[in-house]
Amino acid sequence: MAEIRLEGVGHSYDGGRTWALRPTTWTWADGRAYALLGPSGCGKTTLLNIVSGLLTPTVGRVWFGDRDVTGVPTARRDIAQVFQFPVLYEEMSVYDNLAFPLRNRGHPKAAVDERVRRVARLLGLEDQLGRRSRRLDPGRQQIVSLGRGLVRPEVAAVLLDEPLTVVDPALKWTLRSKLKEIQRDTRHTLVYVTHDQTEALTFADEVVVLNEGRIVQTGPPAELFLSPAHEFVGHFIGSPGMNVLPAEVADGLVRVGGVVAGRPARELPPGPVRLGVRPEFVRPTARPLSPGVAARVTGVDRMGSHDLVRAEVGGHPLVARTEPGAAPAEPYFHFERAFLFRDEVRCGELAALEGSGP
Ligand SMILES: Nc1ncnc2c1ncn2[C@@H]1O[C@H](COP(=O)(O)OP(=O)(O)OP(=O)(O)O)[C@@H](O)[C@H]1O
Ligand SMILES: [Mg+2]
Repeated sequence: MAEIRLEGVGHSYDGGRTWALRPTTWTWADGRAYALLGPSGCGKTTLLNIVSGLLTPTVGRVWFGDRDVTGVPTARRDIAQVFQFPVLYEEMSVYDNLAFPLRNRGHPKAAVDERVRRVARLLGLEDQLGRRSRRLDPGRQQIVSLGRGLVRPEVAAVLLDEPLTVVDPALKWTLRSKLKEIQRDTRHTLVYVTHDQTEALTFADEVVVLNEGRIVQTGPPAELFLSPAHEFVGHFIGSPGMNVLPAEVADGLVRVGGVVAGRPARELPPGPVRLGVRPEFVRPTARPLSPGVAARVTGVDRMGSHDLVRAEVGGHPLVARTEPGAAPAEPYFHFERAFLFRDEVRCGELAALEGSGP
């Protein structure tokens, strides 16, 4: 096993007019669990297929350790890939399907048996081993496909492209934690593609967020939540996503629709910015508390576990996530943790006004 390094790797399907994946330099560290997260069409599958060798990048080099594999076909890369839909030999038993990748590479019989049974146990397939794969429902077939991806101990990486789409929602949760368990056990480098933030955040050591063919931020789940470096991460991750308010930096102050909200924590050139604050860090208060704004409450959604207080400041919507049943009519909104963005990239933090902060 080795780290997998992309060096200026980019891909265009139309002769360079548009980039499905913009030239990117990035390293997948050996033995870590990654989620590759982004909306449909952002380039996730393109990136994965470049790592596996199904696709040769338009530009750049792919390295497995110190071996340049850019032109090396999939079969010689030692990669296991699991797709969205089951890929199985339907006439074979579950056991033989799981054993196939090992037998194919000449593993001794006893080792094959040990490994097949171990993966089957981890995935809850022990009592299915003798069944013909065709007889399983699509969800179970997909679990067998997953097993085929995980069965080889020596692979450089296991790549999973939205592997749980056809799996029953109730099973998904279990399988995700199983996958994590298996990954800890085998220390495979795992890259798990998804457009579902919950899936990404519960599974990964590190989340790579992709948008429009570009990696916009990478980090552990908590960091993406607490410290979004890009507006896209702010609204793609979180439910609801980060509030983004058009604002202005002038005279050392930050104003939203003419209302002073605070000051930049560090000096910023004057001009327009966007103020980003997650609903979790907006706290309605009875008295002004800096940084924050006065806002007009427009409604409250009772969500059961929490409330969403909707308000308006300078003509822009603002949402606060609060304890259930909290008083809805507080006129001030304190920002416990807010950032400033320019051209969608974070350029600073919002701080309390001198002498008035908490
Ligand atoms: N074979 C292809 N030929 C031409 N364009 C393609 C091809 N495959 C993908 N694209 C385009 O490249 C971009 C990235 O596609 P890709 O399949 O990598 O996205 P994705 O993030 O995997 O999306 P999804 O979540 O829908 O699977 C999209 O604009 C897509 O339309
Ligand atoms: Mg895809």
